[in-house]
Amino acid sequence: MPKVILHVDGTTVEQEVKDNANLVVLAATRLLPKLKYGCGMGRCTKCTCQVINGAEDLAAPNWKEVKMLGDKVNEGYRLTCQLTIQRDIEISQENISVQVPKKQSPIQING
Ligand code: FES
Repeated sequence: MPKVILHVDGTTVEQEVKDNANLVVLAATRLLPKLKYGCGMGRCTKCTCQVINGAEDLAAPNWKEVKMLGDKVNEGYRLTCQLTIQRDIEISQENISVQVPKKQSPIQING
């Protein structure tokens, strides 16, 4: 089973998850209660994380991630709700603030 390491709100959480798990679904079922998320559908950006380790084992960013995060996907930012986990991964939601783009407006990520 893959292990997820999540850095959020000054704490680190480690959790084993089932293969092909979606972390937002796990958060909703209280297996990862500290994970920040909102819509679960790639529309709000509240679940944005930066992948610290394990990015190479993820599928390429999908169109929702590219639309919502823009060039930040090239810096390792992903929408957690769009990820399925098959191998160990380390992600951070520390100091991330992303605004939902309004038709071509710039994305702001503070860090
Ligand atoms: S939870 Fe809304 S974009 Fe991921």
